[in-house]
Amino acid sequence: MISLSSSKTILLSIVLLALLLITSGLGYYLFFNQNNLATQFDLNLGKSIYNNRCIACHLPGQLGAPRLGHAEEWAPRIGKGLDTLFHNSLQGFNAMPARGGDAHLSDEEVKSAVAFMVNESS
Ligand code: HEC
Repeated sequence: MISLSSSKTILLSIVLLALLLITSGLGYYLFFNQNNLATQFDLNLGKSIYNNRCIACHLPGQLGAPRLGHAEEWAPRIGKGLDTLFHNSLQGFNAMPARGGDAHLSDEEVKSAVAFMVNESS
């Protein structure tokens, strides 16, 4: 009986350790995604795309667009996850036109503009 209960303890420890590893890995992943945009995207490219195109709506808050630098307006957007923001800005979302209304922008250019705005607004 003693050996059975100690093997249960070992099993439980392994399960707990695995859970700890998984949750800390997830935390690291989320942290990495949120805080290292500059290492994953060309934010200078994003800035120039923003200044050429997105600024028209995202500076004044035209049609309800979240304004650059206003963290409270961006927080619920950022909460959807970057992939959703990329998808919505490439495909369009309500009054937000696909690719900011410029079909010539590449995926990379649109994504870097989103990354720039998220980075400036979080
Ligand atoms: C014609 C005006 C306009 C232009 C130009 C524009 N946007 Fe938007 N954008 C909007 C509006 C309006 C919303 C809010 C849509 C809503 O939530 O209903 C929005 C929302 C967004 C969102 C949040 C989407 C979400 O899922 O919450 C992102 C990201 C975004 N725009 C990126 C861009 C980028 C990148 C550009 C430039 C390439 C750009 N926008 C240009 C009007 C514009």
